[in-house]
Amino acid sequence: MSMERADIAFAVNGAAVSVNVPPLRRLSSVLRDELRLTGTKVGCDAGDCGACTVLVDGAPVCACLMSAASASGTMVTTVEGLANGRLSALQASFLAHGAAQCGICTPALLVAASALLDTKPRPTETEVQDALGGILCRCTGYRKIITAVMEASLQTASLDFRLPRSGHAIGASPVRLDGVPKVTGAEKFGGDSFPADALAVLVIRSPHHHAGFAFGEIDGWASSHPGITGVFTAADIPGKNCFGVIGPFADQPALAEGFARLRGEAVALVAGEREAILDLDLSDFPVRWTELPHVLQPGDAQAEGAALIHENRPANLLTKGFVERGDPESALADAAFIASDTIETSYVEHAYIEPEAGYAYLDGGTLVVVACTQAPYMDRDDTAKVLGLAVDKVRIVPTATGGGFGSKLDVSLQPLIGLVALKTGRPAALAYTRNESMMSTTKRHPARMKASVGADAEGHVTGMIFEGDFNTGAYASWGPTVANRVPVHASGPYFTPNYRAEGRAIHTNGPIAGAFRGFGVPQATIMQETLYDELAGKLGIDRLDFRLKNCLRNGFETVTGQVLESGVGIAECLEALRPHWARATADADAFNSANLDRKRGVGVASCWYGCGNTSLPNPSTIRVGIAADGAVILHQGAVDIGQGSNTVITQICADALGLPLEKFRLKSADTAISPDAGKTSASRQTFVTGKAAEKAGRALREKILRFANVSEKASLELDGPAIVIREGEATRSIDVGLLDVDAHGFVFHAEETYDPPTLPLDAKGQGKPYAVYGYGAQIAELEVDLRLGTVTLIRIIAAHDVGKAINPLLVEGQIEGGIAQGIGMALMEEYIPGRTENLHDYLIPTIGDVPPIETILVEVPDPEGPFGAKGLGEHVLIPTAPAILNAIRHATGVLVTKVPATPSRILAAIREKEARA
Ligand code: FES
Ligand code: FES
Repeated sequence: MSMERADIAFAVNGAAVSVNVPPLRRLSSVLRDELRLTGTKVGCDAGDCGACTVLVDGAPVCACLMSAASASGTMVTTVEGLANGRLSALQASFLAHGAAQCGICTPALLVAASALLDTKPRPTETEVQDALGGILCRCTGYRKIITAVMEASLQTASLDFRLPRSGHAIGASPVRLDGVPKVTGAEKFGGDSFPADALAVLVIRSPHHHAGFAFGEIDGWASSHPGITGVFTAADIPGKNCFGVIGPFADQPALAEGFARLRGEAVALVAGEREAILDLDLSDFPVRWTELPHVLQPGDAQAEGAALIHENRPANLLTKGFVERGDPESALADAAFIASDTIETSYVEHAYIEPEAGYAYLDGGTLVVVACTQAPYMDRDDTAKVLGLAVDKVRIVPTATGGGFGSKLDVSLQPLIGLVALKTGRPAALAYTRNESMMSTTKRHPARMKASVGADAEGHVTGMIFEGDFNTGAYASWGPTVANRVPVHASGPYFTPNYRAEGRAIHTNGPIAGAFRGFGVPQATIMQETLYDELAGKLGIDRLDFRLKNCLRNGFETVTGQVLESGVGIAECLEALRPHWARATADADAFNSANLDRKRGVGVASCWYGCGNTSLPNPSTIRVGIAADGAVILHQGAVDIGQGSNTVITQICADALGLPLEKFRLKSADTAISPDAGKTSASRQTFVTGKAAEKAGRALREKILRFANVSEKASLELDGPAIVIREGEATRSIDVGLLDVDAHGFVFHAEETYDPPTLPLDAKGQGKPYAVYGYGAQIAELEVDLRLGTVTLIRIIAAHDVGKAINPLLVEGQIEGGIAQGIGMALMEEYIPGRTENLHDYLIPTIGDVPPIETILVEVPDPEGPFGAKGLGEHVLIPTAPAILNAIRHATGVLVTKVPATPSRILAAIREKEARA
């Protein structure tokens, strides 16, 4: 079907343009595809995310909802029009305040905020929230965005971009080294640089949770559709049609064969010219579906006689993790007080604003995949396996990644576009729709948990038993990691001498559950921390004091028998909260004595989290060198998905080497040029890659000093192509331009690997699973309307022990962003397959949902971490949901045992309590 075209003229960023497109083509598509103004992003094509916001005649509109014809004669402003040769004050303010993390939402926020500032140069918080309310950000928690807009008028456009001087990078908060493109719209995400001659690819997916399928006359169908180049199925896959992030559990086909195990599973690819694909009607695609019985709940999947989702996995059990210590039954039997309960959580969608996107092409005999990702080396290995290529014949070039949070650790479109490129010899490009991103990619595991905790009469925890079933969906993904990590962490950061915990990953025909910020620990922490409140109540001990009485301290043993010699900062976090706790509980008491229908509550919860893989090798390698022109080149392969590794790893390396940040040039992750720094997950990059960067920096420094024959006290400077070395009165200059370069193009270089020292867990889960843990605790203050069940958050106070805050502004950004995701998990996010596969029905926090957040940075250095630093990416989300649930119970007297605690669930719990009274 071809659509009539028309010439449509309008102005963009002050310049007249004319395009010849179908009049109903989305303005967002015209801007991006015809005019190559890719600063305008597309996150949903449905008016839900706001990422496509542009100004039309000065007013913000969603460009995905506006037709090209409607734009005729208008003046359109995109992010590319905001900087007039230099950054605007608003753009500079975004950088100065750390308001852009991944940056995918940033262009829309900037254009909408610029319209607000035109009329209100000093807007109030409410005015900012109103103006930006339709634009979603999944990374930042919005607080820094609000500040950046409110204070834009105070920001001189000539932002002071000066970087810290040599030796002072650690602990400073320079603007992100990769920040400027994020505010100008120049950043290239997965869908922003498709080659003009690329074939477009569509994926045919299962509409059923479980179904057999057979193809009809595919070739005839393809040839009857002009512009369609080919259709590809599992039969076309040249390699092993099976991938997975954990080798022994790999079980997922790139294209299903004969039957689909989940809704949204890919079964075929249609490739064709872009215009043909844009207008393609797939309703007559020749595939016959035979719906089969399915199970979506672990209980049904494990019922007697339930059909097996994978033949080799009896009872649909993927795997289980186990930790046991002491005699928990006796401890509970002898306990003076016991708290027991069950909690259920829901699927949570990552909801990054950038759906998966990328393109592939052949470069000689090498397949190059340019796509958003968190794990380039893992993508390379899985793509090579599926396509039957040698690993060195696949090159993964990560684009900027518009949020990941765990889901972009798994391959998605990489083998699919790779297959089309291999089969056709043409570049192949694909950007998932929001719907297919949500249907087909991983989720947070729904959990059904039960646990008991016992304490003696003095309030010391004596024992705990925990069991959790985690719905891992149709394929393994990171299910084994969740099953193994949960039992290690389910005690919380508390001394628990008698303990048993089992985590089970169970297959269903539901969405694949994988990695999502915390790998099951956020769910388990809800269970444990709500029990701790109940136990404190039974003991008559203040809830914060109870936690302090039981928290781990230096020299204590964890539930895996690991002795934590030093660096345990949970007590410091809880102590840091103490004054806030006293103030907040007094406020709540005063409010509650004056109000009947609305009640305030205060909750506290803690976290601990082992950084890096559980008892598995986990290396990162960093290469740094001095080029012949005197530049310091840092091969930094830790993908920056917004969390800031490009900046933090460079700060660490700079101080270890003893040269200033401004001399560094970054070469980011690219499997052909940068060493493997592992995946961006498990809060490992600051700790593991940071440590490798520290080692590489020190090694390079040593090489230079040895060459100059000076002691390690000497200082380094770069002056053009000269390294200037000073020791006491003596100065020596090495003109690196005169020296030979090595195979990497360096005059001097160092490459160092760091792998955290861990030990395997034995049959009882005893061992040293992690080299470093991070700790934190948060207070939630909120108000519940007892008539409606609605919750209004008042404030979150977060104290996190990060060992050493390498970049305090980025640390704050991580904390605020993690808290926003924790708020979503606690109060609103519930993914229901087949029902909430868009950002209209699936709700994530908006700018109005995140209350003020007070951050307290606690620095208890860990001797293993670089400059004492620990990871924090996952930690920051973990305490939020349990602190909120505890605050709701404090306000209402009821614990909501199915998360999210929606108004209807809160009301039902209140009514049930009233009925019992
Ligand atoms: Fe237009 Fe999401 S892409 S609102
Ligand atoms: Fe807003 Fe990533 S910075 S979505």
